[in-house]
Amino acid sequence: MTPTAIHEWPSFAHAPDLDDLPPLQRPTGQTLAKYIWWDGEIREAEGQAVHYYSNALHYGSGVFEGIRCYPTERGPAIFRLHDHMRRLLASAAIYGMNVPYSLERLVEAAADVTRVNGIANGYLRPLAYFGQGPVNLTPKRQCAVSLFIAARELGAFLGEEGLRRGIRVTISSWRKFHHTMLPTTAKATGHYANSVLAAHEATDRGFDDAILLNQDGTVAEATGENVFFVKHGELVTNDATSSILPGITRDTVLKLAADLHVPVKIRAFTRDELMMADEVFLTGTAAEVTPVREIDGRAFEAGPGTIGAKLQKAYLSAVRGLIRQHDDWLHYV
Ligand SMILES: Cc1ncc(COP(=O)(O)O)c(C=O)c1O
Repeated sequence: MTPTAIHEWPSFAHAPDLDDLPPLQRPTGQTLAKYIWWDGEIREAEGQAVHYYSNALHYGSGVFEGIRCYPTERGPAIFRLHDHMRRLLASAAIYGMNVPYSLERLVEAAADVTRVNGIANGYLRPLAYFGQGPVNLTPKRQCAVSLFIAARELGAFLGEEGLRRGIRVTISSWRKFHHTMLPTTAKATGHYANSVLAAHEATDRGFDDAILLNQDGTVAEATGENVFFVKHGELVTNDATSSILPGITRDTVLKLAADLHVPVKIRAFTRDELMMADEVFLTGTAAEVTPVREIDGRAFEAGPGTIGAKLQKAYLSAVRGLIRQHDDWLHYV
């Protein structure tokens, strides 16, 4: 199948195979880009610093995004840029952070920093934070807000091999914080202490990543990814009522599943159901669509022929501008 045949794929049978896609040269390092956008201007990144008494450093009062830019036939394109910036502003709002830039200004800034660094395949990290101020827990009253958009290389987040063959995951002994404790739909720096603990535990035990359960035993999400499973041909994932960060990749995969006529159920699910699944995969901007081949010794189907692989191929087609009907997901720089 040629790449152009992918444009109008109407049914499951016509979803492209990964090997049908034009090869994507992924960076293998994590080199930082030369220029950064910081408080309204492009600056040389080298030497830029955050004050040691920034409120965000002490209390986790920052909000951020992770956004990928992919090479396409029409040049570099940032994937779902407006949606990411919209979420950034929503995360800021719940923390009482007044971001002095409009959605359109942030979109333009992200495109500018991508362009000035000559990035075709890269990762953008916008981060807004409360800066230096007095020792107290009301930064919205005393701390100035700063916002930068950094850029760097980022290859396959959980490894190229993981992307193709699947990763090994453990169920964390750390539970996910409930949405009554912290606003889980916001992407805030302080929330990631939970993920760091779980990721350290998982990798110390020889796994690639961890899935966290909620206090009631239902599945929440992985350290930086949402969880999907397939059972008897039906795709299942949870929603914000399970204290997840509702991912933009999750939303993309749900729309691609609809295109491909894959039946979907969105509902809470238990560890037990997950362990009984036929397939499991994780979604996230960094991890893209990564199959899970094992959870704590239990093996799952992964790779060619699986529904997860079809959705992964569809996702990797979409991000590269190969699905015309979803061209509005791409912001060409
Ligand atoms: C905790 C958590 N869940 C889910 C996701 C997936 O979100 P997205 O697909 O918008 O990158 C991320 C990554 O941002 C995350 O950190």
